[in-house]
Amino acid sequence: MSRPSGTLLEAIAATAGTPTYVYSAESLETATRRWVAAAGDPGRIYFAAKANTNLAVLDRLRGTGIGIEVATAGERARAERAGFPRTRILLGGVPKSADVVAEGIGSGLALVVLQADHEVDAAVAAADPALPTRVGLRVRPGIRAGAHPSLETGRADAKFGYAPEEVVDAWSRLAATPGLDPDVLAVHLGSGIGSLEPWDRALDVLLDLAERLAAHGTPVREFDLGGGLGVDYESDDDPDPSALIQRVDRRLEGTGLSSRFEPGRSVVARAGFLVTRVLYRREHGGKPALVCDAGFTDFARFALYGAQHRIEALDGATSGPATVDVLGPTCESGDVIGTDRSLHEVRPGDLLVVRDVGAYGFVMASNYNSRPRPAEVMLENGRFRVVRRRESLEDLWRGEPAP
Ligand SMILES: Cc1ncc(COP(=O)(O)O)c(C=O)c1O
Repeated sequence: MSRPSGTLLEAIAATAGTPTYVYSAESLETATRRWVAAAGDPGRIYFAAKANTNLAVLDRLRGTGIGIEVATAGERARAERAGFPRTRILLGGVPKSADVVAEGIGSGLALVVLQADHEVDAAVAAADPALPTRVGLRVRPGIRAGAHPSLETGRADAKFGYAPEEVVDAWSRLAATPGLDPDVLAVHLGSGIGSLEPWDRALDVLLDLAERLAAHGTPVREFDLGGGLGVDYESDDDPDPSALIQRVDRRLEGTGLSSRFEPGRSVVARAGFLVTRVLYRREHGGKPALVCDAGFTDFARFALYGAQHRIEALDGATSGPATVDVLGPTCESGDVIGTDRSLHEVRPGDLLVVRDVGAYGFVMASNYNSRPRPAEVMLENGRFRVVRRRESLEDLWRGEPAP
């Protein structure tokens, strides 16, 4: 996805202010359609809402026919508000309260993935034979994969899912409950995964479990292989879901098992651009730095994971060997957007664009320092519209009684 022109981004900043997230509708559709084409059926793809829950973004994705994976009551409410029918909503295998599980059972969702005993208890208690619900179990296969330790979710010591040796017991409880139809095993190995090999190892674990469960009389019919496909934040190379899907399909050929995927980052990352204005230059640790109006409250990925995104001046005229760090304005030394970026000629008042921020960008913004969260803008055919207004100061104390 090429970057929107400097003129367009200037116009957006003039209208919406800074910092502002800008999403390209074209890029959203291209990435989604790439997944759909690779899968051959939109029904195999469930966008992981946690990556980006803006309603206009969700609306775009819904239009391509795919489903959506939600992890909380809030994500489910957003998915429904964006028009996803319940039959295309999957309640995912992340830690959920008993209430969220109970609300998912018998409510017409495509699938409810359970990942701990208290969730199985809640599902069993809520089961209604008149409203049968398809359920699955998330397995923790004991595999290290992910761009950062915090993003590795399939490790043996991760807090998610059942260890392989625990699956049969939990599965048997589900199978014995009228109104629950267990037939899916799920994994989510991590996020930002750069090689396909971890999925091979996950399939070894899942196929072995499927064999064991078949012997118990309630067979597995489908594997949910989660999300995780990485994005190269230093280049324009697009993630290639077809290599992953072909590999999985080859492996499952002749087994009678189908598969589905829950991509987040690889669908929306490239579509997002964060526009921020440089406030001033200063020295920092003996290096030149630009302090800009976007902080880690607006974009947390460097602070959380050390993630380096391309940061560019709008005119692109700052390449060269000298580099600067890009810092946010809040009162933390960890408030960093990126380091060692080639932006040495940038001046106070200039605009910068942080690239590939459509995933885990705005959704992780906070109001720390009582900073209103940024605006979000959708760009389509060279025109833009605000799809979430910048928060106002009044928004900051909404819900608090006046003293
Ligand atoms: C259960 C589950 N599915 C899918 C995803 C999406 O992962 P990604 O954005 O790396 O594709 C996540 C992200 O953490 C997840 O927890």
